[in-house]
Amino acid sequence: PHVIYIHSNGERHEVEVPIGQNLMTAATSHDIEGIVGDCGGAMSCATCHVMVEEPFAALLPVPDDTENQMLDFTAAPREANSRLCCQIVMSDVLDGIAVRIADPQL
Ligand code: FES
Repeated sequence: PHVIYIHSNGERHEVEVPIGQNLMTAATSHDIEGIVGDCGGAMSCATCHVMVEEPFAALLPVPDDTENQMLDFTAAPREANSRLCCQIVMSDVLDGIAVRIADPQL
């Protein structure tokens, strides 16, 4: 399955992501600019902020309390479809998921 990362300038990057891998790890291992992931996925940095495009946003489990709280501390304003991409785990149903990279992250 693949992910489309959309940069703030509109540029799109398509990346193959193995099932079970989260979208922060996938982004940093492919040098996708704009996803920082300072805490390594421990939900304590909020530098992996993305806005998930429909129809995929609705397919994700709702953010748990920790993610929800961290989303209030993102550098770029939180939007209705804001998520921490370290918490988005690739699966078959998410094939083709498109995420806009929040800018800035820090
Ligand atoms: Fe730190 Fe996602 S990588 S919150």
